[in-house]
Order: sequence, then C-alpha cells, then structure tokens
Amino acid sequence: MDVADALRKLDEATSRGLAAISGASTLDELEEAERSVLGRKGPVSEVQRSLGGLADQDRRRLGLAVNEAFQKVRDAAAERRQALRQEAERAVGERDRIDVTLPGRRPPPGGLHPLTQTERRILEAFVGLGYRLVEGPEMETDWYNFESLNIPEDHPARTEQDTLYPDVPGRTDLILRTQTSNVQVRTMEAQEPPIYVVTLGRCYRRDVPDATHSPVFHQIEILAVDEGLSLADMKGTLEAFARAVFGPEQKVRLRPGYFPFVEPGAEVDVSCFLCGGRGCRVCDEGWIEILGAGMVHPKVLEAGGVDPERYTGFAAGLGIERITMLRNGVPDIRVFFDGDVRVLSQFAGSA
Ligand code: PHE
Repeated sequence: MDVADALRKLDEATSRGLAAISGASTLDELEEAERSVLGRKGPVSEVQRSLGGLADQDRRRLGLAVNEAFQKVRDAAAERRQALRQEAERAVGERDRIDVTLPGRRPPPGGLHPLTQTERRILEAFVGLGYRLVEGPEMETDWYNFESLNIPEDHPARTEQDTLYPDVPGRTDLILRTQTSNVQVRTMEAQEPPIYVVTLGRCYRRDVPDATHSPVFHQIEILAVDEGLSLADMKGTLEAFARAVFGPEQKVRLRPGYFPFVEPGAEVDVSCFLCGGRGCRVCDEGWIEILGAGMVHPKVLEAGGVDPERYTGFAAGLGIERITMLRNGVPDIRVFFDGDVRVLSQFAGSA
C-alpha cells in the first residue's frame, strides 16, 4: 500500500467513524461504531500493521496519522458516551419526579362481600321477629353435630365422604361442623325455654369443589322452643321471614322432608322471587326450595335437657350461597371464595 493510499484510507475511516459515533443513540451502538473503525480487524489497525515494511520517513508520517486517527475517534466516542449517559440519567429523573401538588390516588371503595350482604339481610329479618343471635364453634364434637341431633352412627351424613376431621393430637371426637344445627343442643343447655335464637356461620363438608359445591359454605339457622309451638307457628314464621327477605307478596310451601333431628320434617319452598311465581328457568313451576325445617324431635329436646312433654319447638336452616346465587344469577359458587375484586365489585351496594 503506498503512503498516499494509506492516508486516504485513514481519512475515510476516521470520518466514517466520527459520523457513526455522533449518530449512535445507545451505548451499544456507540461501542459498535468505535469498534468498526479501531477494532483489530478495522481499517486503522490494518494500516498500522503495514508500517513495518515502510521506509523511515514514510513510517513516521503514516505512524503519526494512525495515532491521530485513534485519538480523534476515541475522543469523539468518549464525548458521545458521556452525553448518552447524561441523557439516560435525565430520563430516569424525569420519570421519578414527583409533583406534590397533584391530587392523591384514591383506592376504590370496598364493599361487603355478597355472602355477607345476604347473611345480614336474613339475620335482620329474624332479629326483627325477636330472634337473638347466638354463636357456635366451627370445630365441634361429634355429639353436638350428630349424636345429640338423632343422627345415628350409620347415617350417611356421618360417613367419611361428608365430614372433615381435623387433626388434633389426643382428640378423636372432633369434627368440622357440617351444619349450623350443632348450635341447637348447645343453646338448650345454655338457657331455659322460651328459646328464640338465630345462628349463622361457616360449615364444612368433604365435597370436591365444582359449580355448586364448596367444602366450606355458610348456613343460617333458627331454633324456637316454647310451650305450645306448632307447625302453623313455624310456617307463619318462615312466611314472615320470606316476605322480609324476598318481598311482601311471598308465599311459602311445605313439602315432606327428612332430617333426623326434626319430626315432622319439611323442605320449604318460597314462591319464586325471580319470576314472581309464574314459572321460569330457575324455579320449579313457580317455587324455589330454600330451607330445611321441621318440628324439633323429642329426642333432641331431651338431649338438650328440655322436657318434650311440656315444650315443643321448630328449627329451620338454609344455605347462604344458594340464596345469593339464585338472587344474583351467579352461576358458580367458587366465585364467592376466589376473592377476585373484578367479580366482587359487581356486588357493591346490591344488598
Ligand atoms: N341442618 C340441615 C342441613 O344442613 C338443615 C335443617 C336445619 C333442617 C334445621 C331442619 C332443621 O341440611
């Protein structure tokens, strides 16, 4: 390569490098631009390698030019690097800048869970009828949940499929209550008739979750024990409850039903609160089953220390999830337990 060619090549490489450097918009691009000119396989290094074969004078001249090319390109790259870094810092500063005069971000207002809304509505209806709220344990003995309620040892409700057994060292008699009826005998033990109580809360059954089953669910239950209570009193009470919760036009229908702790027992239907009793997709010819009920079995009164010759009583229980699903057209019970705010927020204020 003759010296003039080499000088031209250096010149060209330098100005191409400088242009690329000033056009680089990221640090990576900048590295690349610098390397393409000054790298070991780049044009400047190539000229530098050829210096050895030149005469003294030419070598000095071209050597200086090589150094100058290195210098120029490095300086330009250093300058550009600093500029790019400052730009990046400024961008971060811009993003993090806080305008203290802006109004704060308000968290969206919370609301009562749909199950709580239903629960309160029903509770208020019974409290309005003179019932007193009592509570019972969720972890319960076999006695209160089954035995005292005339649920015999071999009753299907007692089999492993239905009942969840907590693992409590040294205790084999504990279960998770499968119904709020566990409060019946507890209440009779705690007070003399007249008894008018309402209770509510979580119950547990060994169900695989699907659209209509959840291993944890909620019930609300009433118990009345007094002198001279009859099936007519029960029906009147349930009617008053249905009207308070679903509307003034409600009617109540009793069908025979079996629960070991009541005799007679009844499945209780209310006239459909969706179609007004005309008949719709959800109801059975205008009726919807919502309660289990009945006259308290004499054996249960006895278990609670109440004289069945003197007193009679009635009890009724219903599932909170079922009613909420029916009233609000919820197709899947699991939404109540998923805690998805997008779903729950749709119930805000729908009590
Ligand atoms: N405990 C019953 C159930 O879980 C409902 C019920 C309560 C029935 C009170 C009669 C009286 O199905």
